[in-house]
Amino acid sequence: MATKFSIKTTSSSFLVLCLTVILFFTLSCLSDPDPLQDFCVADLKSTTIVNGYPCKTVSQVTSSDFFYSGLMNESSTANPLGIGVSAGDVMNFPGVNTLGLSTTRVEFAPNGYIPLGVHPRASEIIFILKGEILIGLISTTNVYYSKVLKVGELSIIPRGLVHFVANAGPGKATIISTFNSQLPGTSLIPNNLFASNPTIPNDILAKNFQVGESVIAVIKSKFAN
Ligand SMILES: *[C@@H]1O[C@H](CO)[C@@H](O)[C@H](O)[C@H]1NC(C)=O
Repeated sequence: MATKFSIKTTSSSFLVLCLTVILFFTLSCLSDPDPLQDFCVADLKSTTIVNGYPCKTVSQVTSSDFFYSGLMNESSTANPLGIGVSAGDVMNFPGVNTLGLSTTRVEFAPNGYIPLGVHPRASEIIFILKGEILIGLISTTNVYYSKVLKVGELSIIPRGLVHFVANAGPGKATIISTFNSQLPGTSLIPNNLFASNPTIPNDILAKNFQVGESVIAVIKSKFAN
C-alpha cells in the first residue's frame, strides 16, 4: 500500500511539473519575441530579412518615431465591406517594431462588416468606441460565441480563432483593436477559399462544401474583380 501511494504521489508531482513547464512555455510564447534593447524603430527601407525589421540607427530616431496620428481620422467606408481600416501596425507605425504590440481603428458604415477570418500571429482586444457591434467567434471545437457590444465594452479574440465583426446598429460604428503582435496578419476565410491566386481547384472546394462545382463557380464569380 505504502509503495503504491508513494508511486502515485511521485507521478502526480511529475504531472504537475510537466503542466507547469508547458504553461511556462505557453505563456512565454503568447506574443512576439521580447525586445533586446529599449526600442528598435523599424527601418522599413532595409532589405535585410529578419524576423521583423532591423532597427533604425539610434542617432536617427526622433520623437516622431514614438507617436502616430494615423488613427485620428475616419477612413472611408466606401467599399463592398463598408469598413474603413486605419492600421497602426509596424508597416505604418515603425516604433512598434519588436514590441509585440499594434493598434488598428476600424470604421463601419451601417451594414459594414469584417469578414470571417483569423489573425495568425496575435490575440486581439476590441474596444467599442462608437455604435453597436456584433462579434462572433468559433472555437476549434466549433462552438459559436457571440454578443452585441455597446460603447465602452471589450471583447477578446484568442489568437488564431475564426471570428467576424459586424455593425449591429442603425448608424455608423467604430472599434479600436489592439494586438499582441507588431504585425498580427489577417487571413480572411472567404477570400482565402474563393479568391486565392492561383485559384483552389473547383472540385476540391466542391468536395469540401459538399456541393456541385457550379455552386463553387458562382461563389468564385462574386470575388472576381
Ligand atoms: C485629420 O483631419 C483633420 C481635419 O480634416 C486634418 O487637419 C488632419 O491633418 C487629419 N490628420 C491626419 C493624421 O490625417
